[in-house]
Amino acid sequence: MAKWGKFLSKESSLLRTSEIRDLLKLTEGKNVISLAGGLPDPSTFPAEDIKSITDYVLENFASRALQYSATAGIPELRKELVNLSNQRGISGITENNIFVTVGSQEALFMLFNLLVDPKDNVFVEMPSYLAALNILRARNPTFHGIPLTDQGPDLDAFENELKRLTANGEKIKLLYIIPTAQNPGGTTLSLDGRKRVLELASKYDFLIVEDDAYGFLVFDGDSPAPIKALDKEGRVIYTGTFSKILAPGFRLGWILADEEIIESVELYKQNVDLHTPSFTQFIAAEAIKRNVIQNNLPKVRQLYREKRDVMLQAIQEYFPKEARWSKPVGGMFVFAWLPNKIDTLNMLPKALEKGVAYVPGSSFYYDYSGRNTMRLNFSFPDKQKLVEGIKILSDVIKSELT
Ligand SMILES: Cc1ncc(COP(=O)(O)O)c(C=O)c1O
Repeated sequence: MAKWGKFLSKESSLLRTSEIRDLLKLTEGKNVISLAGGLPDPSTFPAEDIKSITDYVLENFASRALQYSATAGIPELRKELVNLSNQRGISGITENNIFVTVGSQEALFMLFNLLVDPKDNVFVEMPSYLAALNILRARNPTFHGIPLTDQGPDLDAFENELKRLTANGEKIKLLYIIPTAQNPGGTTLSLDGRKRVLELASKYDFLIVEDDAYGFLVFDGDSPAPIKALDKEGRVIYTGTFSKILAPGFRLGWILADEEIIESVELYKQNVDLHTPSFTQFIAAEAIKRNVIQNNLPKVRQLYREKRDVMLQAIQEYFPKEARWSKPVGGMFVFAWLPNKIDTLNMLPKALEKGVAYVPGSSFYYDYSGRNTMRLNFSFPDKQKLVEGIKILSDVIKSELT
């Protein structure tokens, strides 16, 4: 940005290009097995159903589906999202609690911009979702990390930090949490844990932004109802997405929150993009109505369970014994902790050279710690590539250890 950089706003200068993204870009078109992405398996897209729904929408709703529409979303989709939320265990809500967004990424972007001022105390899990951390980083908050255990965030550590801050007269703004099939950790917080988080929010007076991107994608055991389902005070702002249950190319997500919050988001979105595309909203509403999503989900879960098992088995077989890794109950990722001696960021060029890509785990820590960790995607590569990729990666790791 030598030439035009002087024209950038101060806020834009907080945006960083990702060196990892740049590195991974270099591998495009090369013979590299990517365990780095986060793409759904395209065989899970219900393309035939979407084709017939698209025809139906154009035949019956063309004048509205191709027109500008309301900022909060088309009424048909907001209504269907109330139904879908009911299926996720959230009751007592109306269309007025629903706000349709361009993916849940836009939802998080608008929420953090609406809520977070510089120096605000913000809690995040360690590790947490990279792209959410990046939005937060640009807000310049004071971060507080909650270490992730096999059972989800360490709530004792969380409470201790809340006590410490409050004793110093500090206020807490919010907790950003992915309680179900966490990205990247793969953990799910128990029902008791969810109740405790809510009690803490009430006691210490902060908001919870609950990201339920993988709530419908739990394949071991039940998917506990979201924290939002337990929320009597309206403290929980919930985000959902069609990306993992229908198609990410639709760029559709939603916010479920108290009406007052929804009204603020509406003002914000008017400045961002007026509204989410009407056309895909009509298709998504019809997909929920026709049970396309519900009928497709068992197939998606089955495929991802199989792929996860293939990856875990390969890791078990080939990774060095000193390594530790998550056994995700859902979602799309395995997270691995390697011996401290290994720096996964430094190791990445060597892995790419040998033909495998992953995401170095430090990106998922607000303070860029976790230098010995990595995130591995199992949803996109085919099963053979998963095994091959893990084999190559294991050799790279072992050569670092010698
Ligand atoms: C935890 C989490 N939240 C939000 C998103 C954003 O997804 P989208 O904008 O496609 O809804 C993702 C995508 O991978 C995710 O993993």
